[in-house]
Amino acid sequence: MAACYKAPTVAARTMDAIKQTNPTMQVLVKPGHEATEVPDVLTPRVAPDTTGVDDRDKKKNKGQNKKRPRDAKCTEVGKSLCLGLIRNNKCPWDDCKFSHDIEAVVVARPQDVGETCVIFEKFGSCPFGVNCRWGSTHINPITGANLFKTGAPPADYDMGVKNGFSIKTQKALRSRKYPFFYERNTPPDQFTPTLTLWGGQILPKPPVVAPLNVSKRDPDDVIEAQTKAYEERMAVAKKEYEQTLLEFEKKKTEAIASSNTPFPKKTKSLIDFENKVYIAPLTTVGNLPFRRIMKKYGADITCSEMALCANLLQGQASELALLKRHEDEDVFGVQLAGGHPDQFSRCAELIEKEDLEVDFIDMNCGCPLDLVCDKGGGSAMMQKANKLKAAVIGIGNVFSGPVTIKMRTGWDEKKPFAVKLCRQIQGWGLPNVAAVMVHGRSRTQRYSRLADYDYIGQVGASMDRGAKEDMARRIPLIPNGDVMSFVDFEERKRAGVSNTAMLARGALIKPWLPTEIKERRHWDISASERLDIMRDFVNFGLEQWGSDKQGINTTRRFLLEWQSFLHRYIPVGCIVEGSVPQRMNERPPLFVGRSDLETLMASDNSADWVKISEMLLGRVDDDFKFEPKHKANSYAKQDRDGGGGGKVEG
Ligand SMILES: Cc1cc2nc3c(=O)[nH]c(=O)nc-3n(C[C@H](O)[C@H](O)[C@H](O)COP(=O)(O)O)c2cc1C
Ligand SMILES: [Zn+2]
Ligand SMILES: [Zn+2]
Repeated sequence: MAACYKAPTVAARTMDAIKQTNPTMQVLVKPGHEATEVPDVLTPRVAPDTTGVDDRDKKKNKGQNKKRPRDAKCTEVGKSLCLGLIRNNKCPWDDCKFSHDIEAVVVARPQDVGETCVIFEKFGSCPFGVNCRWGSTHINPITGANLFKTGAPPADYDMGVKNGFSIKTQKALRSRKYPFFYERNTPPDQFTPTLTLWGGQILPKPPVVAPLNVSKRDPDDVIEAQTKAYEERMAVAKKEYEQTLLEFEKKKTEAIASSNTPFPKKTKSLIDFENKVYIAPLTTVGNLPFRRIMKKYGADITCSEMALCANLLQGQASELALLKRHEDEDVFGVQLAGGHPDQFSRCAELIEKEDLEVDFIDMNCGCPLDLVCDKGGGSAMMQKANKLKAAVIGIGNVFSGPVTIKMRTGWDEKKPFAVKLCRQIQGWGLPNVAAVMVHGRSRTQRYSRLADYDYIGQVGASMDRGAKEDMARRIPLIPNGDVMSFVDFEERKRAGVSNTAMLARGALIKPWLPTEIKERRHWDISASERLDIMRDFVNFGLEQWGSDKQGINTTRRFLLEWQSFLHRYIPVGCIVEGSVPQRMNERPPLFVGRSDLETLMASDNSADWVKISEMLLGRVDDDFKFEPKHKANSYAKQDRDGGGGGKVEG
């Protein structure tokens, strides 16, 4: 019988523990901050218009808001103006089809949104020229000519964004002529079980050691002698194995140095997630400007939003754009979702061949959306270990960086299987797996319960056991779910599972959370400091999407989506000490802040979010409407629902 293993106890707070300390699950506000009715500064609530929406529709959409209003395409006269003229005051093309009537644009220019163009201030030139809604800083008011701080147009308008795709590549993808190494629909078993880029082989298998064979009924001295002999056998085998691994590493380094693979120049090392603040992939809200905010507030590692392999391989511009990285992001991963190993390998190959700056590829094995699962991707991939393995190997053959695998506890909370799967992944001995991430909820659970850290603890214990018994390299496990304060973060660490944890909604609700974690404090941040964070986001958004009308629209939409999380923060200074820190699933009460701005920022009514956006981006058009993509985060309805999780994707 093998030595009995005792799972570490997990100190994470369970739902029951939280209920004991706060049976109402409602944050308690300090005297003077209670509100029994909607404060005056907020927009009065109106009952939602549910005409035409039946319950079946509601169920089908599972909290996603698919019929959201969208901006009309910009029709302003400046849209058809030649780009060369807008940027550099001259058209470089012989057969240009665009308008060159810049004076018509000057005449039609509406009043500027503000006085200072942040892009011009920072870079000395603004590529949006006469169309910039802060353009008076940098255009000639009569001719509309673009002006430059240095007096001459820049060689290019480099704003620090990497990972663009050439037109040639996009065309090749769209016409299915991109020269991929792997065929479409390569069967999983045809992925050669060698990792070309990772030393030419899979980690050597550890030697087999005769197990400890004693029973409780044996006399003590027999147990002792047998145990000693077993430990000695293990020690010898371990030493021998360590030597094999050293030789393997040496061979790997040599193979890399003299690599005759098509991609010899990149470094190949695993990512060290230990004691790092890692921001989880977040569809829509985890966009590039948001990730720059995360970096500014202390995040170490960032990841793209989920990109669907199938769309990337078809060359869809909007999907390819998801791989963009800002130079502020110094350790950056790309998350891919797909249902078949060849999709992953082909995308990995694309990333490598196009020389994209990607430090790791995260495989999405947790997305609960039907759209993804029905095609075998996301959570469905968790159920197909052989495909998963083939995909990791396939990626390793063409991509020089490591792979991480992000999953849930399982499909259904009644039968979680991450314990088994993670140990299995570890047992494959694939050297390119840098970490596995486990979100402590099942696919069907979505966000209805607190993340199950007891279960994540079991995953860690089983991986520890695997490392001992199978002599496998212990793959780091990164737990995920409900981290909203440095206390939550450290509880996860104390749970003995990992030296890190990743942030998702906590970082959306409190973008300064990385700083709190690094400085181990609850930051009683003021409303004006929070507005400054939003202003930074807006400035990054204008750089990313443009300071013309369309860019403002896009920036505003993404800001409003983010506000559907931001408003859930309750200032430390407004709540009773026992309620600090605010926990993820606690209900935000109706309260009055320390200033009108603070009260406004806590509003659950999207009309108030629009008001805040107007402070930063100017007024919206009269017919502007906004409904968040993740419905459950807007309480723009009269009866306030739980306020805890909502049903968002991931
Ligand atoms: C708005 C939103 C978008 C998400 N998008 C993704 C995604 O693209 N890929 C992914 O693996 N998880 C996604 N997730 C899940 C998160 O990465 C994370 O696993 C989950 O929210 C649990 O962490 P939390 O309780 O700290 O929020 C998303 C979550 C949210 C709230
Ligand atoms: Zn032109
Ligand atoms: Zn400008």
